[in-house]
Amino acid sequence: MLAVKNLKLSIDKKIVVDGLSLEISTGEVHAIIGKNGAGKSSLAKAIAGHPDYEVVSGDITVDGESVIGKQPDEIARMGFFLAFQNPVEIPGVTVANFIRAALQAKEHGTTSFNAIDFYKKLYEKMDVLGMEKSFSSRSLNDGFSGGERKRCEILQMLMLEPKYVVFDETDSGLDIDALKMVSAAINSMRNRNFAAMVITHHNKLLEYVHPDFVHVISDGKIIKSGGFEIIRNLEKFGYQFFDAGGQ
Ligand SMILES: Nc1ncnc2c1ncn2[C@@H]1O[C@H](COP(=O)(O)OP(=O)(O)O)[C@@H](O)[C@H]1O
Ligand SMILES: [Mg+2]
Repeated sequence: MLAVKNLKLSIDKKIVVDGLSLEISTGEVHAIIGKNGAGKSSLAKAIAGHPDYEVVSGDITVDGESVIGKQPDEIARMGFFLAFQNPVEIPGVTVANFIRAALQAKEHGTTSFNAIDFYKKLYEKMDVLGMEKSFSSRSLNDGFSGGERKRCEILQMLMLEPKYVVFDETDSGLDIDALKMVSAAINSMRNRNFAAMVITHHNKLLEYVHPDFVHVISDGKIIKSGGFEIIRNLEKFGYQFFDAGGQ
């Protein structure tokens, strides 16, 4: 289970997550929705071990073990993966080499690494995402369109096969065909050993992924949790509905 327990986070002395609790068990997909600036990315980055966030109080655990104070690579080895809202460019490092290095680091170099098997799997996954083979030899995110960056994040996830994933607005910048491919890729990971937190403020992705639980975040707190009906209410009434305590 991925558990966030009464978490309070600050950045630059400003509280951005304020007493947030959430439990995500394997087999479940949870959606996190909320206005810009609500604290969604801050929550995601803190779970991943981003050094800029100070944990003022509370805890984050992965399978019962706290991630507080751990480095991002240690948290990744615990089975966690964050698909970034704004992935960084790494000129000179190709997509294929980056993913290969990440896989090797994850395995601690313990398993021997077969290049033929690696490329076979890489091309299979790229095919699922509608990516040309040549994409793998481009520099990571360097000159990528918004949609290409997001697909590249999903490609990394499919290759690393994490247990817990946070998708931070992975749908932004995608056209409808890419959105369907990304949704299909997320759905293909769904099983008893996988759990996901899908952060979005678009409803389209949620229609395809159909989360088991939906949480609305406002000012760093969960103000509403429930099922898919929350999405319908959001479509009909907007966020004011929840601010006003609507059910
Ligand atoms: N590096 C930073 N320095 C200062 N404030 C930040 C920083 N990053 C985010 N914030 C602030 O934290 C709040 C939450 O932001 P964020 O978590 O990105 O929200 P969301 O992802 O829900 O749009 C915002 O008020 C934002 O301005
Ligand atoms: Mg964000």
